[in-house]
Amino acid sequence: MHDENSSPKTYRDAMARYAGHVQIVTTAAGGMMRGVTATACTSVSDAPPTVLACVNRHNPRNGLFAEAGNFAINTLGTRHRALADAFSGLGGLSTEQRFAEATWDLSGSGAPVLVGALASFDCRLIEAREVASHWILIGEVIGVRLGDADKPLIYFDRGYCSM
Ligand SMILES: Cc1cc2nc3c(=O)[nH]c(=O)nc-3n(C[C@H](O)[C@H](O)[C@H](O)COP(=O)(O)O)c2cc1C
Repeated sequence: MHDENSSPKTYRDAMARYAGHVQIVTTAAGGMMRGVTATACTSVSDAPPTVLACVNRHNPRNGLFAEAGNFAINTLGTRHRALADAFSGLGGLSTEQRFAEATWDLSGSGAPVLVGALASFDCRLIEAREVASHWILIGEVIGVRLGDADKPLIYFDRGYCSM
């Protein structure tokens, strides 16, 4: 199928064929916490270590990401499937209930870091750039944690799988 106009539906169908490693992006400030299941995260550079994460700015709960000055990218394994569901809003849990599903440390930046993540990237927010419906959060990585090895939790064809 060829769609010259690249309609939103065709765009979404095409992105469903793009496998993404599932992360929980977290932030905290002033006694508030926020975490979002996300695949729109990637490395920008290793010198200096820099990453980005895209979060929907039309969701008012995501405002904290732009305000807090910190975020962490927590890389999930297959054992974190239920946690990915909770932080994507499935089950309708409150923020407190979502975080209570796992153990978190407060990192150097102030963002919650998932104990037992495959890896965690603790970031100082350099810039929250508004692009279309999302903020592109650009972060300087100020701390990295390596957890136990596990198969990665992948999102592909609108469902979870691994490799
Ligand atoms: C596999 C998967 C990947 C997602 N990736 C992103 C993403 O990259 N950025 C984003 O803003 N939302 C993403 N979402 C949606 C958010 O997880 C979801 O909208 C949000 O957590 C809902 O939070 P709320 O229930 O507190 O409003 C993704 C959801 C799933 C299931």
